[in-house]
Formats: sequence, structure tokens, C-alpha cells
Amino acid sequence: MNEKALESAYRAHFPVFRVHPDLIYLDHAATSQKPLSVVEAIQNQMVSENGSPHRGAHQLSVKSTEIYEGGRQQVMAFIGGLDPREIVFTKNTTESLNLIAYSYGMTFLKPKDEIAILISSHHSNIVPWQVVSQKTGAKLVYLLVDQEGKLPETELKKINERTQIVTFPWVSNGIGTKLEPRQLIKKAHEMGAIAIIDAAQVAGHERINVIELDADFLAFSGHKMFAPQGIGVLYGKYELLDKMPPFLTGGDMIEYVTCFETTYEAVPKRFEAGTQNVSGVKGLVAAIDFIEQIGLDAIKTHEHKLTQYMMMRLKELSFITIYGPETLNDRGALVVFNVEGIHPHDVASILDDHGIAIRAGHHCTQPLMQHLGLTATCRASYSIYNSERDVDDLVKALYKVRQVFGYDD
Ligand SMILES: Cc1ncc(COP(=O)(O)O)c(C=O)c1O
Repeated sequence: MNEKALESAYRAHFPVFRVHPDLIYLDHAATSQKPLSVVEAIQNQMVSENGSPHRGAHQLSVKSTEIYEGGRQQVMAFIGGLDPREIVFTKNTTESLNLIAYSYGMTFLKPKDEIAILISSHHSNIVPWQVVSQKTGAKLVYLLVDQEGKLPETELKKINERTQIVTFPWVSNGIGTKLEPRQLIKKAHEMGAIAIIDAAQVAGHERINVIELDADFLAFSGHKMFAPQGIGVLYGKYELLDKMPPFLTGGDMIEYVTCFETTYEAVPKRFEAGTQNVSGVKGLVAAIDFIEQIGLDAIKTHEHKLTQYMMMRLKELSFITIYGPETLNDRGALVVFNVEGIHPHDVASILDDHGIAIRAGHHCTQPLMQHLGLTATCRASYSIYNSERDVDDLVKALYKVRQVFGYDD
């Protein structure tokens, strides 16, 4: 198949473009569009397979349990895991990170301990640790990235024998930089700390292997990788999860309850209180099937080409400042930029008038913005449903944005 045919074949999987044929969706990093196979899988589950998992003895309940526990196996395989007990279903990356902070952090951190956080982290990987720090007396230590979002070797020295936790985004949603996670994990382990990877911008973009990474925890959201909103994943090493107390309590996570005491279920059910999101798991499994069918290598190649093309085209515009690394291999599937003289919110809203959806603002990375001396930026992020034509249309529309503000480029 030639390039053009491949692009239309990719786009044809997504019904949103039948409803909005002219839409140029460049906000994949915020949430992905959904392939028909995912929509149909969820519809099928809701119509013919709906019951409460883990509870009843009737057929629909048994079917729901099969979907849910089968999903756990499939997610485990998707990230190279070996033990399904190491997969906890959550709502999203935010809940996964909160679970670690509240359960592991609150239990094991003491005054004078240190939590090393990459400054380019999303708020969901900062705010929970601030709360934990205030409650336990553990100190937050920020690892500072350079102007390109890369981590200088010298910053690794901040990880020392007091460090108990090292937490970082594999790909930063705020600047687009991709880190080498193994370097940080190795350093954390050398100092006796655990390493947490926020893989929200990596899942569905490239292969993850938690065993090769030797990650202690890894978090991601289904909705950023073609699955519905409301389903997320926390991977955690069994020996860590097993010693952690529950995060939320109530139904389904207990062994035995008396009026004043409760014993808890084993891992991972201990962390899955209440009726779970079986439709979400069904959609997540369908999304994984979709990704495997397209092929992670093909996805990565397509996104890499788009990054290259987007960087090249945006660089031609004298009024654009691009942030993040020069080297393509150090970038995720997003480009962050500013338009000279125009606030990012105005840029986004005028682009929207031209049918182009981008994200503008601080991208939930205010500490990074403060560190880089920025207040807001524009972000174009993409996936297999985007093409070089989308980039050309973005460039044309950016000239129009400048014209609205009286510039004559
Ligand atoms: C790197 C990163 N971490 C965490 C999150 C939070 O994801 P969610 O809102 O799905 O919990 C995002 C969302 O943009 C993200 O990009």
C-alpha cells in the first residue's frame, strides 16, 4: 500500500471523521479518537454481556468476570508483564499515581526521606506527592530538565541514600521530550529507591516491557490509546503491591467484614473497590487488539515521520518558536510551540474556526512552565489518523491566525 492509501486506511477506522469529515484532530495527547472496533466491542458488551463482575453466580455475571479478568491478562501481555496480579485497573493515570502516593507513600515515607520528581511531570504526578510530603514530612526534590526538556547527568546526583521514590514522565506532555527511563530506574535502584514511570504519553505509541525496564510502578490511561475514558492501569511489582494497604475501601476488596474490623482481599483486588468498569476493560482490550493489528512499529514509524514533517514545516515560519528537543529520537508524538505576538488560547480558538483542534495552555505542567519561563504554549499532538496534509493545513491556518492579529507575513 502506498503512503496515501495507508493514511486513508488508518483514518477510515475512526467514525469521528465520518461525522466531522473536515476535522483535523491534533489533540491526541489529551485524548485519542476511538476506532470503530472499540465502539462496537463496548456496545456488544453493554447489549449482550452486561452483568456485575466477581459477584453473582448467573451467566452474565460470570461473563463479566471473564471479560474483566481476561482483560487483566491481555493488559499484562501488552506491557510485557508476567504476573496478572501485578495489574490493577484504575480510572486513569491520575488515579494510578494517587494510589501509589496514598497507599505506598503514606505508609512507608518518613521525615527526612526524599521524593525525587522530574520537574516536567504532569500535575497528577506532583500534587499527590505534595500532599504526601505535607503529611509525612518527606521532602520533595525536583530534578531539573534543561531548555529542551532533557535531564542533565548532573541532576542524577540529587538521587541519594535518602531518596525513597523517583518518579518521572517517560514522555513529557508539556514539552514533548522522551527520556531514557532505564538510566533513572538504575540510579533509583542503586540508591535503594523505587522508580515510578508515568507512561501516559507512551502507551499505544511504542512497546513497553516492564520486566526489561525493571520498573517498580508504571501508570497509563486507556483513553489516550484508543480506549474509552474512565479506564486506566497501574502496573506494580507484586512484592510492593502485596505490602501496601488499600487505597479505597468498600465492596469487592474485602475478605471478611465484622462490625469493627475487616480483612482485605489479596492483590490486585485489594485495590479495586466497588463495581468495576467492565465496559472500560472491554474497550481497552479492543484498543490493544487494534494497536496490535496496526502494529506498534507501524504506529511509531508513522508518528516519527509526522514529527519530522511538522518540525520541518513549523521551522519555515519565522513567527513560530518550537520547544523541546532538536533530535527527533528524543521526542514523543507531539510538538509544542508558540506564535509570536499571539496568546496560545487565541491561536487555538482561531484554529478551531478552521476545523483544527489543538491544545493551548499550561498542559497541567505549571512547575515545568515556571522553570522554562513560559506561561502557556500551543500543542499539536497526533496519531495514525493524522497525515502530512493535516500539518500543511495547520501551517496555512497559522498564517491566517497571524493575519487576524494584523501581521503581514
Ligand atoms: C504525562 C501525563 N501524565 C498524566 C496525565 C493524566 O492523565 P489522566 O488525565 O488520563 O489521568 C496526562 C494527561 O494528559 C499526561 O499527559
